[in-house]
Amino acid sequence: MCGIVGYTGTGEAGRVLVEGLKKLEYRGYDSAGVALHENGRLIVTKAAGSVADLEKMLNDQYQAVRVGIGHTRWATHGPPTDLNAHPHSSASGDIVVVHNGIIENHRSLRRKLGEEAGYKFRSETDSEVLAHLIEHCYDGDLLKAVRKAMSQVDGSYALVAACTREPDRLVCARKDSPLIIGLGAGENFVASDVPALLAHTRRACVMDDGEFASLTPGKVEVSGADGKLIKKDILEINWDIEAAEKGGYDHFMLKEIMEQPVAVRETLRQRIDSASGRVDLAEFDLPPEQLRTLEKIYIIACGTAYHAGLIGKMVIEKLAGIPVEVEVASEFRYRGPLFNTNQLAIVISQSGETADTLAGLRLARSKELPVLAITNVVGSSVSREADLVLYTWAGPEIAVASTKAYVTQLVALYLVAVYLGQTRNILDPGLAAGLVKGLLGLPGQLKEVLSDENIAKIRTYCNHLVNWDNAFFIGRSLDYPVAMEGALKLKEISYIHAEACAAGELKHGPLALIEEGAPVVVLATQKAVLEKTLSNVQVVNARGGAVFAITREDFDDVERQVDSIFYLPAVNDILAPVLSVVPTQLIAYYTAVARGCSVDKPRNLAKSVTVE
Ligand code: G6P
Repeated sequence: MCGIVGYTGTGEAGRVLVEGLKKLEYRGYDSAGVALHENGRLIVTKAAGSVADLEKMLNDQYQAVRVGIGHTRWATHGPPTDLNAHPHSSASGDIVVVHNGIIENHRSLRRKLGEEAGYKFRSETDSEVLAHLIEHCYDGDLLKAVRKAMSQVDGSYALVAACTREPDRLVCARKDSPLIIGLGAGENFVASDVPALLAHTRRACVMDDGEFASLTPGKVEVSGADGKLIKKDILEINWDIEAAEKGGYDHFMLKEIMEQPVAVRETLRQRIDSASGRVDLAEFDLPPEQLRTLEKIYIIACGTAYHAGLIGKMVIEKLAGIPVEVEVASEFRYRGPLFNTNQLAIVISQSGETADTLAGLRLARSKELPVLAITNVVGSSVSREADLVLYTWAGPEIAVASTKAYVTQLVALYLVAVYLGQTRNILDPGLAAGLVKGLLGLPGQLKEVLSDENIAKIRTYCNHLVNWDNAFFIGRSLDYPVAMEGALKLKEISYIHAEACAAGELKHGPLALIEEGAPVVVLATQKAVLEKTLSNVQVVNARGGAVFAITREDFDDVERQVDSIFYLPAVNDILAPVLSVVPTQLIAYYTAVARGCSVDKPRNLAKSVTVE
């Protein structure tokens, strides 16, 4: 769970690396470092801290350097210290590596290299073993050495290596961790993700598992473990550079919240035939007969994506009549699910790189279930291993707390539910037409929800919330997963402990914690359970809790029963979660800002979790 950048060319390598690393800090940010070729040596500068700290240490002193590698780390093996920061050097200092992933057999390799070859280790990381191992295998050709070394390694890796004796060359290897090569004119790049490349080039190729690459300023060669050259497809990346930067907002998170109308519109684009009212998912390319006979769907995901899955379950069951089990990916793998034919797995992952989700995908595939991936990252591991891919077109999401990717995951799940319902001929055409119209109306409604007036209302409520250590989010039916998502968002960025509770469960425990002024956010958007939810609100009122209700403008009975209210536009019950989550995102955001928290990079968390 780290960010890697490599550069070979004629520009200022130090600057390219530092700027690239800044764009990758979402992948981890407890330490950073670079290795730069200078006068036949590889000079390593690294330390615990941010890329900005690294930049200060470098202090423009490497302006003349043309080749180098850089890394931003999120600690796995060994705490975030200067010594554990990457790059790692071999004993002689001739080989330097940056690595993202986990070397599972690092202990036995350490023993072998230490006992048999006398190598001394300086850090506690698993990654350092790669520098020594490559040196051990080196015989005048870095690519051959890396290939030989990696044949002895078990685990996952995106690796970039440099060698003092081959001063303009970088060598890369990939297995289960992303690595993208950026192609320039007289210069070439490699990085863990596209934002690090965008300032320099829009031509790129994605490395696949088991591939190796050799980069010099004028040439990129990708080869397999057998040394045979591989012809790669070149992608033209059409992301706007602005899309990967903050665009005038104080934080990426706020920018991404504001981008939700566009993200939803893009995700719907070309997937609805408004004339016929049918959802058309070319990506969901399974024979209609197979879809008609589906007996069960597993949805597998982590974190925010899991909350999207909970809503997907209710909606698919309702519209398509197929039983759905939603599984936290880290549990799914180990509990021995009962697989049989006529099942489908849906994995949801913004990054497409979450280790547990990927493992769940592989388990499902090994049991011969077709796997549909819902992901935001083209070329991600999940997208490449799934049988079918439905992209969410949210654009790059940088803030650790997911917002726009989440709402697009919901939209993708709605599309899947309607598509299945229509293909199985069980969805009432009137309901389908209403949903399709409702979906197309969501971008405009999201804009309304994000009005200045609404934001002012949220900020007023946050003035109350900011002083509390505990908060509660309650709701019933489709409002319950939204309450879970709201609570997660608040705790991850404001560090206020937040608990989500099915409103009917309050009385079975959490009610004991409601005291005078205790903040309780109630989601009340579901007509069928509105009265029941409001009776739960009464119970909170009786204990003095401060209730903030998120409801619909067509529900006029709520206001007099709560302390403050946030109105959403009138919306179909089924689609309400897309709108109702937005005020919970804003509550988390403005509370975190008021508490002076690091909004985009909350402590201890990372955007892309590539370890189990
Ligand atoms: C991390 C992120 C969350 C995200 C989860 C799953 O915990 O901080 O925001 O929901 O991973 O990530 P994915 O990329 O698989 O959706």
